[in-house]
Amino acid sequence: DIKGFVFDLDGVITDTSVFHSQAWHQVADKVGAPWSKELEDGLKGISRMDSLEMILKAGNLQDKYTEDQKVALATEKNTNYLKLVNKMTPANILPGIKAFLDEIKNGGYLLSLASASKNAPTVLDKLQLTDYFPKIVDPKSLSKGKPDPEIYIKGAELIDLDPAQCIGVEDAAAGVESINAAGETSIGIGDKQILKDADINFADTSEMTLANIQKQMN
Ligand code: BG6
Ligand code: MG
Repeated sequence: DIKGFVFDLDGVITDTSVFHSQAWHQVADKVGAPWSKELEDGLKGISRMDSLEMILKAGNLQDKYTEDQKVALATEKNTNYLKLVNKMTPANILPGIKAFLDEIKNGGYLLSLASASKNAPTVLDKLQLTDYFPKIVDPKSLSKGKPDPEIYIKGAELIDLDPAQCIGVEDAAAGVESINAAGETSIGIGDKQILKDADINFADTSEMTLANIQKQMN
């Protein structure tokens, strides 16, 4: 039986995936790496430094930058990202998410957050959703990022559940892969082509209700 939900943040609870993309696109332009829809989708769920490596690789630029220069590029990206985050309000919560969080909370389900973002607490604060997520996986504690299952296994551990008792919610292919490998039931929100490995698919967040999840469970 399902007893808990492990949530991704960016692109699931709020529209910050657009801000991440915007800020990475600036980095790609700066270093001269080609930007594509494929790269943009591939970056979703990927940690800050791994994202930078992917962008550099797309431009065959991996060896052009020293570690210090890479850190500087990632820091600049984060500064630009935080400028966008600082303008956020609860209006940036994606449609239906607040209602769904209330529905599962009132239904007695446990909740945790499995975001790769070191900015997750700041983003939750901006959205005034901090109280919903007393349990947050610390991305600094991870040895491997998504698609490795570690983050979703930790998300279940934080709420004292077995992965089999949890549903993980994701907008990224790397995230769905992580949920599946952790042994949780996966919900993919967004393009069904990209999230084809998810157990349950929703085109957007407004469709996510317990009744609609039930309909796709077998
Ligand atoms: C993930 C996003 O949630 O967090 C990625 O989908 C982002 O786009 C990653 O790169 C790391 O975020 P941050 O805020 O620690 O740079
Ligand atoms: Mg995401």
